[in-house]
Amino acid sequence: MKTFTLTRPDDCHLHVRSGALLKTVLRHTARQFGRAIIMPNLKPPVTTVAQALVYRDEILQAIPETVSFEPLMTLYLTAATTLEEIERAAQSEHIYAFKLYPAGATTNSDAGVADVTRIYSLLAALEKHDLPLLLHGEVTDIECDIFDREQRFIDRYLIDIVKQFPNLRMVLEHVTTKEAVQFVEGADSTVAATITPQHLLFNRNAMLSGGIKPHYYCLPVLKREIHRLTLVNAAISGNKKFFLGTDSAPHLTHLKENACGCAGCYSAFGAMELYTQLFDQENALDKLEGFASFYGADFYRLPRNVGKITLQKQTWTVPAQYDEITPLKAGEELMWKLI
Ligand code: NCD
Ligand code: ZN
Repeated sequence: MKTFTLTRPDDCHLHVRSGALLKTVLRHTARQFGRAIIMPNLKPPVTTVAQALVYRDEILQAIPETVSFEPLMTLYLTAATTLEEIERAAQSEHIYAFKLYPAGATTNSDAGVADVTRIYSLLAALEKHDLPLLLHGEVTDIECDIFDREQRFIDRYLIDIVKQFPNLRMVLEHVTTKEAVQFVEGADSTVAATITPQHLLFNRNAMLSGGIKPHYYCLPVLKREIHRLTLVNAAISGNKKFFLGTDSAPHLTHLKENACGCAGCYSAFGAMELYTQLFDQENALDKLEGFASFYGADFYRLPRNVGKITLQKQTWTVPAQYDEITPLKAGEELMWKLI
């Protein structure tokens, strides 16, 4: 049977939530990944180093004893973030980045920034302390078509941010469009991007054709096929600016199968299986280790993981549920299995 072995990967964009949900999902991530960049959009958001350290302890408690896994914490940037907090974050060995959510852009983003141009003093402090800025790159204007929100964010904010802060390292998270890929490719080496499994595997038909499929609804929303193809080419290109970030975002099934369903796909259960399937389909398995295990670590200036994981080409069926969470591709077959 065909197998594929690679250096233990890192997930550079992950939601693990807290409480019971955390216990369900963390073991899925920890069996595949050595580390993960943990998103701070809890309720209330993780805005201080002190809160992040409490959250980190909760995560450490939930890691199964048989695996070694390191949560890399981030703070939620708000208009009320202080320069002192940024300094404290820079001094902490456990804080790896700040996450910027435009207010109202996505799940638990009410505390986000209403006008990005008004927090330039904070971006200057991040640049000074060499702390990466992680961007949910979508405008929230009610009149802006939801399929255009990423491109509009780049035009309105990102082009200027890159110009004003040439040494600020930043990650345009979960890129979904040709325009975002081209922007990142053309920018300096300070600018990188993560790509999710759902944006590589599916276009918007998966969500909207033949009935509305809420488990394919995430933000930024799935786009046209032309955009998916551009993302695939970026992921398999070997360009160090593009690396793995699942954006696995669990919600209870009844909150997704709802008249106003939550945004977020649950992919952590089989993240490496999903990515491996895609890279294999593209005859690009030789490019997977860079994307999954090297480029993210290099961007965050972390040593690459030393362990390995192995996947086997073997068909298996994704369960309908993990506790009360419906996974991506529930009830469907995957072609690779982690062993
Ligand atoms: C994420 C979540 O549920 O926390 N949802 C999503 O659709 N991706 C938030 C986010 O990353 O936008
Ligand atoms: Zn996310």
